[in-house]
Amino acid sequence: MLPRRFLNISLCTILLAACSNTAPEGAKSQNRGKYVYTKECSKCHGPNGEGSGSAALGMSVSAPDLTGLQQRNDGYFPREFVRRFVMGRLEKDDPDSSMPDFSAIGLSHVYPIGGADGEVLETDFEELLDYLEAIQN
Ligand code: HEC
Repeated sequence: MLPRRFLNISLCTILLAACSNTAPEGAKSQNRGKYVYTKECSKCHGPNGEGSGSAALGMSVSAPDLTGLQQRNDGYFPREFVRRFVMGRLEKDDPDSSMPDFSAIGLSHVYPIGGADGEVLETDFEELLDYLEAIQN
């Protein structure tokens, strides 16, 4: 039989290892980004970013496939373009399109009770961009 003290120490080691075995930073960020995407973008851009979300039916301008952003931009993910487009700082192709200006409405589905005061928090936004970059074709 092993001494009790030894058993206690090994148990602690196992528990510590279990606790520190978290997902790497990148994966965590993408999970949060996916959450933000699902809440704020998926109804138009589709559950996986490929376009045709539930609200896409009947839209005069359809929501583009966001998994092809990189392909449509010579193989380079246009991070700054997406940032500026989503924050309403770029002209839309069609001024009547339903793409919201998130700098004006905030992440209202992520923070339904106004937790972020209508602002788009920088960290949420970076994580959203990380997620979009990760789903490129
Ligand atoms: C109410 C529907 C709707 C929602 C919600 C929405 N979009 Fe859009 N989005 C559109 C439409 C429609 C267009 C096409 C606009 C245009 O080109 O004028 C578009 C265009 C875009 C584009 C430009 C793509 C390109 O190839 O030019 C990006 C990037 C984008 N949306 C990202 C997002 C992100 C990220 C979110 C969530 C934070 C989001 N959209 C939420 C409808 C929506």
